[in-house]
Amino acid sequence: MSTAVRYYSKGGNTKKLAEAIASAAGCEALKIDTPITEETDVLFLGASVYAYGIAEEMRRFISDMDVSKVKKVVVFSTSALAQRAFPEIEKALKDTGVNVDERNFYCRGSFLMMHKGRPNEKDLEDAKKFAKEILG
Ligand SMILES: Cc1cc2nc3c(=O)[nH]c(=O)nc-3n(C[C@H](O)[C@H](O)[C@H](O)COP(=O)(O)O)c2cc1C
Repeated sequence: MSTAVRYYSKGGNTKKLAEAIASAAGCEALKIDTPITEETDVLFLGASVYAYGIAEEMRRFISDMDVSKVKKVVVFSTSALAQRAFPEIEKALKDTGVNVDERNFYCRGSFLMMHKGRPNEKDLEDAKKFAKEILG
C-alpha cells in the first residue's frame, strides 16, 4: 500500500504528529509545499486551527490537489480549544470529490499558556496506533 504524509504547521505541533504518523506508516512527513505526484492509497493530511479556521495554505493545497492520484485522505489535527480542523478540512476535501475517511486523529496542541507540552509522548504513541489501525 502506498502512503504519504503532508502537513501544515506554523508552530511545530502538527509537525510532531506528522512525524509520528510517518514513522508508523513507513514514509516521510513532508510539508504541503510538496504536492502529491504519485499514486497514493492513503494520504495522511495534518492541519491546525488558526483564528477559527484552517490556513489559507491548506485550502490551496487541497484545491490544487490532483485527486486522481489519491484514493483516500485521513485527517489529523491539533488545536488549543474545542473546535477542530476536521469538519472544515473534511468539507474542503469533499468539495474536490476525494474520498475522506470518517476516522480522524485529534489532540490538543500547546498555545500560549495552554496545554504545555502537547502533543506529548502519549499523543504521539496514540497517533502511531491510529495510523497502524488505518493501514490495517
Ligand atoms: C495565530 C494562531 C491562532 C490560533 N487560533 C486558534 C483558534 O482559533 N482556535 C484554536 O482552537 N486554537 C487556535 N490556535 C492554537 C493552535 O491551533 C494550536 O497551537 C495548534 O497546535 C498549532 O499547531 P502548529 O504548532 O502545528 O501550528 C492558534 C494558534 C496560533 C499560532
